[in-house]
Amino acid sequence: MARLTSPVRSILAFSYVLTLVFAASIPPGAWIKRHISQLSSRYDYIIAGGGTSGLTVADRLTAAFPQRSVLVVEYGDLENSTAILQPAVTVPDPRYAFNILSDPEPGLGNRSFTVTVGKVVGGCSAINAQMFDRGSKADYDAWGYVAGPEYQAAGWNWAGLLPYFRKSTTFTPPSANDVKNYEYTYDVDEAYGGNGPIQACYPPFQWPSEKIMRKAWKELGIPSPKEAAGGQAYGVFWLPSSQDPKTQTRSYARTGHYDPAANRTNYHLLVGYKVTDVIIGHAGVVNKGFQAQGVKIQAVAGNSSAVEIHSDQEIILAAGAIHTPGILQRSGVGPSDILKAANISVKIELPGVGQNFQDHPITNLFYNLTTEPSPAAMAMLTNSTLMAQAQKEYAQNRTGPLTLSGGNSGAFLPLSALTNDTGSIISALTAQSPATYLPNSTHRSILEGYASQLAALKDLFSSKEAAVFEYPISTFGAPQAFLKPLSRGTVNINPTDPLAEPLVSYRTFTNPVDLTMAVHGVKMIRRMFATPSGKSLGPVELTPGDAVKTDEDWRTWLQTSVRPSFYHPVGTAALMPKSLGGVVDPSLRVHGVQSLRIVDASVMPLIPGTHTSSTVYAVAEKAADLIIGDARD
Ligand SMILES: Cc1cc2nc3c(=O)[nH]c(=O)nc-3n(C[C@H](O)[C@H](O)[C@H](O)COP(=O)(O)OP(=O)(O)OC[C@H]3O[C@@H](n4cnc5c(N)ncnc54)[C@H](O)[C@@H]3O)c2cc1C
Ligand SMILES: *[C@@H]1O[C@H](CO)[C@@H](O)[C@H](O)[C@H]1NC(C)=O
Ligand SMILES: *[C@@H]1O[C@H](CO)[C@@H](O)[C@H](O)[C@H]1NC(C)=O
Ligand SMILES: *[C@@H]1O[C@H](CO)[C@@H](O)[C@H](O)[C@H]1NC(C)=O
Ligand SMILES: *[C@@H]1O[C@H](CO)[C@@H](O)[C@H](O)[C@H]1NC(C)=O
Ligand SMILES: *[C@@H]1O[C@H](CO)[C@@H](O)[C@H](O)[C@H]1NC(C)=O
Ligand SMILES: *[C@@H]1O[C@H](CO)[C@@H](O)[C@H](O)[C@H]1NC(C)=O
Ligand SMILES: *[C@@H]1O[C@H](CO)[C@@H](O)[C@H](O)[C@H]1NC(C)=O
Ligand SMILES: *[C@@H]1O[C@H](CO)[C@@H](O)[C@H](O)[C@H]1NC(C)=O
Ligand SMILES: *[C@@H]1O[C@H](CO)[C@@H](O)[C@H](O)[C@H]1NC(C)=O
Ligand SMILES: *[C@@H]1O[C@H](CO)[C@@H](O)[C@H](O)[C@H]1NC(C)=O
Repeated sequence: MARLTSPVRSILAFSYVLTLVFAASIPPGAWIKRHISQLSSRYDYIIAGGGTSGLTVADRLTAAFPQRSVLVVEYGDLENSTAILQPAVTVPDPRYAFNILSDPEPGLGNRSFTVTVGKVVGGCSAINAQMFDRGSKADYDAWGYVAGPEYQAAGWNWAGLLPYFRKSTTFTPPSANDVKNYEYTYDVDEAYGGNGPIQACYPPFQWPSEKIMRKAWKELGIPSPKEAAGGQAYGVFWLPSSQDPKTQTRSYARTGHYDPAANRTNYHLLVGYKVTDVIIGHAGVVNKGFQAQGVKIQAVAGNSSAVEIHSDQEIILAAGAIHTPGILQRSGVGPSDILKAANISVKIELPGVGQNFQDHPITNLFYNLTTEPSPAAMAMLTNSTLMAQAQKEYAQNRTGPLTLSGGNSGAFLPLSALTNDTGSIISALTAQSPATYLPNSTHRSILEGYASQLAALKDLFSSKEAAVFEYPISTFGAPQAFLKPLSRGTVNINPTDPLAEPLVSYRTFTNPVDLTMAVHGVKMIRRMFATPSGKSLGPVELTPGDAVKTDEDWRTWLQTSVRPSFYHPVGTAALMPKSLGGVVDPSLRVHGVQSLRIVDASVMPLIPGTHTSSTVYAVAEKAADLIIGDARD
């Protein structure tokens, strides 16, 4: 069958077609506010950001305390477009995402990249690809190891998070027929068993080539665990979609945590406003510390001035890893050099705010699978009969190809599966001084924290039970994501315009060991297609093709082809002690400020080897318990 030469344009066209298909009813958001005149003058809790984590915490707080008021301030709108509910393919609708361009990336030929994060009620969970997996036990245990005993004791490890993973989600097993057709495996007791608001399921469709690629990975000797979400996220395995099995529509923070809670009289959601700063004052005459007392908010549209809203309990930051650091920095909490450059007076010097930025670099190879069994996934782009049939099936029965989102299987490989020479990588790591590849101005506490991360990563690279590369089995091409990069970026306010979008610098491949590992990683794709099952698909490599042969060729190709983000930004307000460059304590409170917590993806100290949404929900569920437990009378 014919393949398209421009995969990106095809994917865009594909998503556009899909948006025309679907119709469903959206429940009312009865208490939504669009103007400050509709607000109370004070709230018990104010949450900055109505995204994945913010809506989770707001749901739990409004349910736990019917007499206490909660305000969520969200930059985007409560969007009722049915396209959001439809299983996503790959490219999110730009209307629901911030439009930010990164700094030129020195490790990627000085290219700049779009920084895509959600700008809508539901945040990134409204636009993500619904791949709903978890990292391995070792990935989360590394958080406790890196942060130290106090954090470990507070449950910042696998054992402490598993109950919250379970609580956050309801997993519905696939039908016996789907198990038979697609070979789905799962183990509810191992990983699920909760009845949380976010729905997880396996869709009632997979392309015929999926089974063949999964087999190809097994022919390379890659094990296949029956269930990966119980901490065994290494090997080739199935991962569910965050999707409602009854309707085969997206399950996300809005459907799970907002719609069912929207009529609670103690719950206000203000849309179209941004939190600019946290109001931080002195805690009291006796207690000389700082305390968060409210927020300043401003309408996104028009040029209204900032308004202050006060809180009686806590301020909770949930603006995501790209926007939470700016709120802190504008409030005088952050690295003093960054604040001084922007003429912001330093209230609390906290060097880690906006540093330790991590994401998963990603690239994609493209193949013409000349003997792929029919129907071939890519035929959806060219065969209008197939597309029309798929639309009819989805509309009538909620079955068929349009129930598929970003995919439900992939190979997640430890370093030892990529190279027999793990020793030289680990010794290169050991030989590094933590300062060598971080920006020159990096504060020494951050260097201490990074040294602790390098020690943890050395163990993870030596382990067979922690993935370093992900190979999603995908409709489009052969992507690979680098799950454990050593390079660290920054997200800081713009000194010439602190209220503007932040300066984002991924710094991908600035640590040269990353590029060495990425070369090992990318070569696995050819090995997979060289297995008997891989060959049976008749693969002809289109990108990069035969011209790329040697490791040196691959290095050059990667520097010009890798993108810095698999849409998983984390780490910019890390759960670590201040002495290690951390920003929040084991209770998620910002060091040195009372009544101020962070609950979003910023707090992950080390990026786990997984898509990040399920971890964000688990952390937010744990955060809600902490906040409820600490409530003042
Ligand atoms: C395109 C894309 C695809 C992805 N695919 C997957 C996937 O398949 N599987 C997976 O597990 N994960 C995926 N992710 C990642 C995952 O969705 C995120 O890690 C997670 O949702 C982040 O949650 P959060 O609460 O930290 O932030 P968000 O969900 O981004 O929430 C932050 C919210 O704060 C709002 N906000 C920002 N600044 C302000 C401000 N100053 N004042 C008020 N509001 C503000 C934003 O509008 C947003 O709604 C994807 C992400 C994207 C963008
Ligand atoms: C893919 O292979 C088929 C069959 O050999 C051929 O007809 C088609 O042109 C190829 N497509 C591309 C994009 O190379
Ligand atoms: C979406 O629907 C809700 C409930 O009817 C409504 O309050 C809200 O304004 C709608 N959103 C938009 C952007 O129109
Ligand atoms: C990137 O920019 C830096 C600074 O301007 C320059 O030194 C370097 O040579 C550039 N690299 C590439 C690959 O263009
Ligand atoms: C909200 O809706 C639920 C379910 O329909 C109902 O039981 C509850 O009484 C409603 N609450 C309010 C405050 O209207
Ligand atoms: C915004 O501010 C500018 C300058 O202060 C003013 O000219 C303009 O009318 C304002 N616009 C609105 C919509 O208020
Ligand atoms: C298009 O898809 C239909 C339905 O699967 C199939 O019968 C037909 O052969 C396909 N056409 C081409 C040109 O591949
Ligand atoms: C929907 O399901 C029914 C019952 O199984 C079947 O007869 C019908 O053909 C299906 N519709 C489509 C479009 O596949
Ligand atoms: C490691 O060495 C073995 C034995 O020589 C070989 O079969 C295997 O392919 C090698 N693995 C990698 C990842 O290179
Ligand atoms: C950091 O300092 C070293 C040595 O002083 C210098 O060579 C290098 O160019 C500096 N790097 C940056 C990014 O400023
Ligand atoms: C900061 O203050 C200095 C001295 O008052 C001034 O020159 C500079 O323009 C200010 N910068 C910003 C970003 O306001």
